[in-house]
Amino acid sequence: MSDEIIKKIPSHVGIIMDGNGRWATMRGKKRTFGHGAGSKNVDRIVTYAFSKGVKVLSLYAFSSENWSRPKEEVDELMRLLRLYFTKFIKKVVKNKVRLVVMGDLSALDNDLRKIIEEDMEKSKIYTERVLNVGINYGGRAEIVRAVNRLIEKGEKVTEQSISQNLYTADFGEPDLIIRTGGEIRLSNFMLYQGAYSELYFTPTLWPDFDEAEFDKAIESFAERNRRYGGI
Ligand code: IPE
Ligand code: IPE
Ligand code: MG
Repeated sequence: MSDEIIKKIPSHVGIIMDGNGRWATMRGKKRTFGHGAGSKNVDRIVTYAFSKGVKVLSLYAFSSENWSRPKEEVDELMRLLRLYFTKFIKKVVKNKVRLVVMGDLSALDNDLRKIIEEDMEKSKIYTERVLNVGINYGGRAEIVRAVNRLIEKGEKVTEQSISQNLYTADFGEPDLIIRTGGEIRLSNFMLYQGAYSELYFTPTLWPDFDEAEFDKAIESFAERNRRYGGI
C-alpha cells in the first residue's frame, strides 16, 4: 500500500465475509472445512487492517438468517466462534482493541455468550480501535430494537436517536463495506449505518481474501468521490 493510499485509509471498514462454503466445495471438501479456513483468515485480516490504520473493523460472522443451515454446519460455526473468542481474542485485547459483538446474543449457548460478554467487558477500556463482530445479527432487527428501546425510554424517534441506539452507537458508520464471495447484496448487514458507505464487491472467496486483496479494496476506496448528495 503506497503512502498516498495510506493517507486515505477508511477509518471504519465493514466486511461481509462470504464464500467459505464454495471455497471448500471447490476443493472436494465439506463446507465446514471452508469455515475453518475462513476463521484463520479473520486473524490475518484483523491484524493487517489495524496495522494499516483502520480504527474500526466490523465483521459479519453469522447472520440472523444463518440458523437455517444444517445443524452440523451451525454447530461447527458456533464451535469456531467459541474457539475464536476464547483464544484469539486474548491477542486482540493485548493489542488494545475493544471487542464489541453486535447481534442478539440471547440465542447463543450460555457458555459462548459468557465468553463474549467477558471479552467485551475486559476490552471496554480501549477506545482507539474496535473489533465489532456481527453474530446472530440482522440489520432490520437492529433498527426495530433501536426503535423499541426509544419507545421504552419514552424518547422521540429521530435519525440521531436511532443511531444512538444501534449496536454501533459508540463508533458509527462504515466508510467502506467489502463483500467477498461474488454476491452483490448486503444480506441484512448494517442497513442503517450503510446509507452512505462506499461498497466494494469482489469475487474472491473469503479464505482467499489476503493482504493484497485488502489493499485492492482500499485502493478502490481511495479513488471514490463521496458526495453525500452534494456536488
Ligand atoms: C460465509 O460463507 C460464512 C457464513 C455465512 C457463516 P458461506 O458459508 O456463506 O459460503 P458460501 O457463500 O456458501 O460459499
Ligand atoms: C452473509 O452471507 C452472512 C455472513 C457473511 C455472515 P450469506 O451467505 O448468509 O448470505 P446470502 O444467503 O448469500 O444472502
Ligand atoms: Mg454465503
